[in-house]
Amino acid sequence: VTRVLTGITTSGTPHLGNYAGAIRPAVAASRRPGVESFYFLADYHSLIKVQDPARVQRSTLEIAASWLACGLDPEQVWFYRQSDIPEIPELTWLLTCVAGKGLLNRAHAYKAAVDKNTEAGEDPDAGVTAGLFMYPVLMAADILMFRAHSVPVGRDQIQHIEMARDFGARFNHLYGEHFVLPEAAIEENVATLPGLDGRKMSKSYDNTIPLFSPREQLRKLVFSIKTDSRQPGEPKQAEGSALFQLYQAFATLEQTADFARAFADGIGWGEAKQALFEQLDAELAPLREKYEALIARPGEIEQVLLAGADKARRIATPFIGELRRAVGLRDLR
Ligand code: TYM
Repeated sequence: VTRVLTGITTSGTPHLGNYAGAIRPAVAASRRPGVESFYFLADYHSLIKVQDPARVQRSTLEIAASWLACGLDPEQVWFYRQSDIPEIPELTWLLTCVAGKGLLNRAHAYKAAVDKNTEAGEDPDAGVTAGLFMYPVLMAADILMFRAHSVPVGRDQIQHIEMARDFGARFNHLYGEHFVLPEAAIEENVATLPGLDGRKMSKSYDNTIPLFSPREQLRKLVFSIKTDSRQPGEPKQAEGSALFQLYQAFATLEQTADFARAFADGIGWGEAKQALFEQLDAELAPLREKYEALIARPGEIEQVLLAGADKARRIATPFIGELRRAVGLRDLR
């Protein structure tokens, strides 16, 4: 069996990028025979960015409901909240003690913060928490804990998977073969979905299309996607067009080829946006209905998560015992 694992940070409302880049391929993979799937809500990770408890809780509920609405069967997979598994922060410390600081210095998110401070003439680490710096180690613990082989993520996360391999390999070298070294799995079509402004769709850029926006809001958002000033009748560039890339992530190859032709033939932006809206809504409307029903019953979602935590800890508790013994600590069980 192949073990597949991925997580979403509970720092806001799930968006189309999370869906196309993570949830949709993950749900499809979970139905394949010979696959064991581990999907979780990365709420420890969310604390790095969000210091608003109500927002963390709301986001956890929304992301859990999104996974379930998109067809995840919690009986078939391991579906849990990261912070329900105390073995994960425990493993984070074991990995911290083998993680090269120099490698962490090069992590994109940390480096971006340092570069920004440096450009502004400030102390390089101004406003940077140790949590941001340690982000990749916590993520490595998520992955290595469950001996995942494959981690389906967007391109933005590849570096983190490589770091997990590095820490895992170093630990194995020192203490014996305990960890499986994971590989990133990237869906080629939807590697990075652009947001409204053409940059990567991201909560941090405030350019997202929430996955379950009500129909009218979805239409409004689609019509606010940035386009150039070409008029109807003038040929449009499909390449580099956010509108086109979004369409492609929600269409068949044939539909995409037709859309490319329409661009070359000078389709008006209004018409193109309407086509994208309809394409999105066709896929999302039935899921949205399920989502609304689920989110109205938070108690049931909580039950699903608690059962998932039990199931995950049946793996994590004995494994952390093995790892504690391996490094010379007492097994607490
Ligand atoms: P996060 O919460 O930023 O994103 C969750 C998943 O959505 C993907 N994604 C995108 N895919 C395509 N286009 C986009 N615009 C887009 N935006 C986000 C991300 O690639 C990711 O797959 N560190 C992770 C969460 C995490 C994790 C893990 C993932 C914690 N531990 C262990 C895998 C394994 C993160 O912040 O993802």
